[in-house]
Amino acid sequence: MDPLYEDGLGRSALEFVSASTFEHQANLSDLHAYGERKLPDLSEAFQLPEHGQGSLSSVRTLWDLCTRYAANTTGPRYFDFVIGGVLPAALAADWVTGTFDQNAAGRITGDLATEVEILVMRWFKELLGLSMDWHGVMVPSATYGNLAGLACARQWWGQQLGVDVIADGTGGLPPIKVVGSSFVHPSVEKTLQMLGMGRKCLTRFDLTDPETGLARMREALAGSGPAIIIASAGEVNGGRFDPIARLAQVAQETGAWLHVDAAFGLIAAFEPSLAANVHGIHMADSIAADGHKWLNVPYDSGFALIRDKEIARRTFGMPNAPYLEDLAGESPGFASLGPDASRRARAFPVFAALLAYGTAGIRDMVKRQMAAISCLVRLLDDSTGYRILVRPTLPIVTFRAEPPGVPEPELDELNQAIFSKVNATGHFAVGMTAVAGRKALRVALLNWGVTDAIAQELFVELSATLAEIGK
Ligand SMILES: Cc1ncc(COP(=O)(O)O)c(C=O)c1O
Repeated sequence: MDPLYEDGLGRSALEFVSASTFEHQANLSDLHAYGERKLPDLSEAFQLPEHGQGSLSSVRTLWDLCTRYAANTTGPRYFDFVIGGVLPAALAADWVTGTFDQNAAGRITGDLATEVEILVMRWFKELLGLSMDWHGVMVPSATYGNLAGLACARQWWGQQLGVDVIADGTGGLPPIKVVGSSFVHPSVEKTLQMLGMGRKCLTRFDLTDPETGLARMREALAGSGPAIIIASAGEVNGGRFDPIARLAQVAQETGAWLHVDAAFGLIAAFEPSLAANVHGIHMADSIAADGHKWLNVPYDSGFALIRDKEIARRTFGMPNAPYLEDLAGESPGFASLGPDASRRARAFPVFAALLAYGTAGIRDMVKRQMAAISCLVRLLDDSTGYRILVRPTLPIVTFRAEPPGVPEPELDELNQAIFSKVNATGHFAVGMTAVAGRKALRVALLNWGVTDAIAQELFVELSATLAEIGK
């Protein structure tokens, strides 16, 4: 039988995935962070087959590989990186996205994908107090959000100097000046690399003492011509924020473009007790963020918000494509308003998640995570073995094993050993970072299923691991 038509158009494969996913979800709260780590050589195990094994068998093979070797990042014990989980409604909506497979490049496959994206971006504009004239577009990631925002900034910068960068490039222009704090994420530097601005154009200012740091920044920008200021909204070790409103003031005084990297910090706007951290964001010229971290929707779910829609249109326009007529005109598709051409309907899972839980539901999730991180902080503070290095602004904390009697030169090795042991045991995934050159542990409690009890379990694991290794 023709394999494309066997199995009732894949019915048994879909039923298998549905039933297995349901069971997986039912056990989510008990899931350890890791299964087996040592993957066999896949090129030995699998050759490109001449004759396929059928959809049920192939999907079962993939499912088995995932349950055995994939990290359980959707479970509430995975605290490495800044990952977040997947809300059930967002997961189901992600299936719907694949089922209908719209090309959200434009309106070729109908208006739905484009209009849902416009709606979702409108909701974020409302949340952040942005004017409705702002342009919003979904991109693959926060890195792409930074790319989109800074590509527009570069176009603006060229225009200030009388050059249309998208047509003529940056040749002959002076180096661009970009300033930010010590919080600037490496993805911003990657973006500067990719945009041909060169990552060395970035100068960092220490804003620990904002008066001194901002005065230095002002001095550096005075008379330097058009420049770009980067504000970080949620850095990776504690979710700390730059003073966005004050950076906006510097941008206004010096005539600079303000770009805010709010990769996950944006979600703080949902919870009143955290929202002051994003105060001033409406004064930015561009904002990057994403839903795949703290909003708990699946990858890939980045956002770019740009104040000047005309600059976005110029930067991302795709001229000379007569077969893509609907990408231009009064109501162009997102292929002319963002970095991608063909793209999935990325807005669908975000739409479903916000519709399913509402702002109150997201707020409750954030509150639960803040309660869990406070619980962990209390336990760490009361312990004799661990010391907190970066206190959480958002549900992320960085701490270090510093048990009494262990000399400083041995502490990096000790922390590295704890990190390796906890992750090898697999009950939890914890992260590793460095603060002022000293190795430290970091956990991000951004999963929707995290609870105080799980935070306590993590502390017990950390204490037991320290006791065992420190013997
Ligand atoms: C502040 C910040 N900006 C940007 C990024 C890059 O995000 P993405 O991995 O979605 O590109 C991260 C990733 O953790 C981040 O923490």
